[in-house]
Amino acid sequence: MSEGKILVIGGAGYIGSHVVKALNESLFAVTVYDNFSTGQECNLFPDNKLVKGDILDSAKLEQTMSEGFDAVIHLAAKKAVGESMEKPDFYAKNNLIGSINIFNAMLKNGVQNIVFSSSAAVYGTPQYIPVDEQHPTNPINFYGFTKLEIEKVMNWYSELKNFNYIALRYFNAVGYAADGSVCGMEKNPQNLQPIVMENITGKREKIFVFGNDYETPDGTCLRDYIHVEDLASAHVLSVKHLMKNHSSHIFNLGTGKGTSVLEIIQSVERVTGKKVNYEIAPRRAGDPAVLTASSKSAETVLGWKPEYTNIDDIIKTVWNMELKNNGKL
Ligand code: UFG
Repeated sequence: MSEGKILVIGGAGYIGSHVVKALNESLFAVTVYDNFSTGQECNLFPDNKLVKGDILDSAKLEQTMSEGFDAVIHLAAKKAVGESMEKPDFYAKNNLIGSINIFNAMLKNGVQNIVFSSSAAVYGTPQYIPVDEQHPTNPINFYGFTKLEIEKVMNWYSELKNFNYIALRYFNAVGYAADGSVCGMEKNPQNLQPIVMENITGKREKIFVFGNDYETPDGTCLRDYIHVEDLASAHVLSVKHLMKNHSSHIFNLGTGKGTSVLEIIQSVERVTGKKVNYEIAPRRAGDPAVLTASSKSAETVLGWKPEYTNIDDIIKTVWNMELKNNGKL
């Protein structure tokens, strides 16, 4: 007997595969739906059923959901902030239309519960720190706009239909499964942690620190780095909550602690014993100096608490994954 039947859309991706792993460990029966545009075959687990499909393919979504699921987890989205400003049409199609296809396929098949992968990008420039869920939402990039609009559609559907949702607003996702079971390694990473690791593993000659003149202790930006296994556990709790309570919520997921760009670099150097080749560069447009989360709601309602709070412990999981996948390092 399983705890429930879950469809994980985007389940072969970086966060999706960790979510699938956590669901498997909690004895859910999981089907992965992925188009492998960024997901990888090596991130699949043998226990899970696989449907190769795109979220723009409504017929395939409807056919897949006709099997019946207790909940859907939707992590299939384009997520590069810079690219979203250059190709808003592409982001609108994939993120907005793709999500609506998922919701409509759910309605058609009587699937009532969804956990949605949202982002701190919905808040835009923070007006106060730590950011809680009551903070005004004012995205400053098209990616963040798509996440906010999808939340609003879910909110309307929850008012009008038999539809319950939990939107999880991730802060900065980092780390890998501590047991090395997710092969990871994104193609063309855009975020700090994978970029720094690419320098360590010789894939990138040099990295740039975008600004060291911010009003922070070392002048570089502070972010709230949350381990991907802690994100994954929040999805499991959200699914359980939806199945039991049928109520909709929005939760921030972060640790509440700010870590600077230089502190990430120093941690990588400590953990790997290698030097990071970096250069201070001008500020990147749109970067707030500090962005940290209040996750009190997730703690109170879901009983969620991040286990990883030390940056070296987080970076160690990344290094383990690299050593496992590239033993010659
Ligand atoms: N940074 C560098 N050099 C790089 C890359 C990043 O100095 O090569 C700096 C950035 O300027 C920033 C910090 O590292 O200060 C983190 O940058 P990321 O690009 O890794 O992450 P962001 O905080 O910009 O954004 C990420 C996700 C968003 C999400 C946000 C939520 O990309 O989708 O976290 O906190 F909305």
